[in-house]
Amino acid sequence: MTTYLPLLSDPTGPRHGSRSRMTCHYRCGDACDKPLPNTTDNPEFSDIATRAIARRAVLGGAAAGAGALVLGLPSPAAAAPAAAPAQRRAGATMGTVRFSPVPPNVRDRVTVPAGFRSDIVISWGDPILPGTPAFDVDAQTPARARRQFGYNNDFLAVLPLRRDTAVMFSNHEYTNPELMFPSDGDYDEDTKKRIEMASHGLSVVKLRRGGRAGSWKVAGLDNPYNRRFHTSTPFRVDGPAAGTRRMRTSADPQGRTVLGTLNNCSGGVTPWGTVLSGEENIDQYFEASEGTLPAEYAASYARYGFQAEAERGWGSIDPRFDLSEEPHEAFRFGWIVEVDPFDKKSTPRKHTMLGRFKHEGANVVVSDSGHAVAYMGDDEKGEYLYKFVSADRVRTARTAKAKRQNMRLLTRGTLYVGRLTDEAPDLAPEYDGVGRWVPLCSDTESFVEGMSVADVLIDTRLAADKVAPTRMDRPEDVDVNPVNGRVYACLTNNDERGSTDPVDEANPLAESMVRDSLGSELEPANGNRNGYVLEMVARNGDHDRPVFDWRLMLVCGDPDAPETYFAGYDPDEVSPISCPDNVAFDVEGNLWVSTDGNKLGSNDGLFRVPTAGARRGQVLQFLTVPPGAETCGPVITRDQKTVFVAVQHPGEDDGATFETPISTWPTGTFPRPSVVTAYQG
Ligand code: FEO
Ligand code: CA
Ligand code: CA
Repeated sequence: MTTYLPLLSDPTGPRHGSRSRMTCHYRCGDACDKPLPNTTDNPEFSDIATRAIARRAVLGGAAAGAGALVLGLPSPAAAAPAAAPAQRRAGATMGTVRFSPVPPNVRDRVTVPAGFRSDIVISWGDPILPGTPAFDVDAQTPARARRQFGYNNDFLAVLPLRRDTAVMFSNHEYTNPELMFPSDGDYDEDTKKRIEMASHGLSVVKLRRGGRAGSWKVAGLDNPYNRRFHTSTPFRVDGPAAGTRRMRTSADPQGRTVLGTLNNCSGGVTPWGTVLSGEENIDQYFEASEGTLPAEYAASYARYGFQAEAERGWGSIDPRFDLSEEPHEAFRFGWIVEVDPFDKKSTPRKHTMLGRFKHEGANVVVSDSGHAVAYMGDDEKGEYLYKFVSADRVRTARTAKAKRQNMRLLTRGTLYVGRLTDEAPDLAPEYDGVGRWVPLCSDTESFVEGMSVADVLIDTRLAADKVAPTRMDRPEDVDVNPVNGRVYACLTNNDERGSTDPVDEANPLAESMVRDSLGSELEPANGNRNGYVLEMVARNGDHDRPVFDWRLMLVCGDPDAPETYFAGYDPDEVSPISCPDNVAFDVEGNLWVSTDGNKLGSNDGLFRVPTAGARRGQVLQFLTVPPGAETCGPVITRDQKTVFVAVQHPGEDDGATFETPISTWPTGTFPRPSVVTAYQG
């Protein structure tokens, strides 16, 4: 652990605005301190950027200041016929209820609007398998951690069972030993690492309704659903790369079974009732004891940010994390995994057909022709958007056989990468254009010269580089609105936009306004600091097609900042929003956006945003989380009575320790990542 300390105490200021150096270190392995993995220059895009900037200049503003221009003009999007007129049933559902937005704040609590309540459902360390003792922060063991709710809950799915019960699925993205272990505890370093390994992964927990309408509790632990997936749980590898040379290790000469899943960030629920989860910043778990990475795979390791220097030091307790010993183990992480939370005996899968990158998550929609279409983001600065279209059609029968068949849909099909250009008629005041999904490979054929299908899938970033996709500002959740069929992508931020990453029409800001703390003045900062919400519309509503139209629905930030844009809605009537990350929808078609790394001095939050009608773009903050935390995994339950949120890494900040966190939520003494509900009451 001591190797971390120089980095953590580095006083060179905030990393991504307010996001702490500590979060960067443990969550993404200091990705921003490493050379940007994407070193392509996509030459044709400088062209596009030049044209975009020229157009903005002609209209009266440079790219960085174009928001000032757009605010003064009517928005065709806002004026366009509403896909689904907002309903007005006062107090009826989370989608329609009126609430006073929660103002920006730094309170050490979960804050919800007047008239709402919030409860904790489950916290890090709570037993989820029967016979597990109650959590004791001074008596943690690897064996206990494998039976407890893991650390740093991120993605959430809440799947109804019966009227009063549901199954909740959660990711446990990463661990932070500084906040997990008391400084004077009896834990040796290897034990800490083993506890941390066991605290990664996934949880499935049965819930039941609580005493108040809209509330939910953990049901009894002895039930056929509760389950923990951790670093030793076997996952079956499927798709075209399964069993190929680079998927084989000494422990798995067949290349078809991987122990564990790591850094699971966001995810999605499939139409056939399973859950997908994205393995994201996987590079940080690996090291090379020989001091240099194996030369044979240097280009691949570099493109994914692997380094010889130990970050977490796991190679010393499990040689599979030592690339000098097991150079292929790195290729067995970075996939989309699929879990059937309704079948406790099922073996989870890693789907190689969906490519290997720093997967935020994956969301599947059924196209008009019945294919499963998955939208995905690669969450790093300057990385790409992806789409997969299945070769086979979704079976709609509600039978076990149909489900088994559907669980093979993500093994055959075509993988695409997104290219967003500025080809739309320049009528809109918004940043907009046309997009194309460029094919990389099918399950039988590679479309990238010099790379086999397995190469394309294992080195998806390298394959994509060759077809000139658009470098985006950290693509996180990409999800389809079930009401209007449009695809919404969060582009969290990129402080290197305008420098390492040239601006283009879809990534237009080289400068944006931030503030250090609540109440301080807005100050200009380089790059896109507050993020965008991108709206994509498949041509003819057909998700199979490779062409789509796109626009930046939200240019996030403080409404007083000239660059911000809220789909044409009056900026005087919206909440400040910064660093969109995860999205969810309610049955009214409202977009719910959670944030990670607010750069306006406030805690992170959850926001409701209508996507149609007169209130399209009216961003209202529904909830805030405690200091240091990001707001993750929002779920609006199907009955529209409850919002679930995962409060990830409360208390985390530069130099924070177990004894000195910046939040003690919810215990009052030390922070515990937890899942909460919010509901009227
Ligand atoms: Fe784990 Fe993409 O944030
Ligand atoms: Ca995320
Ligand atoms: Ca995030």
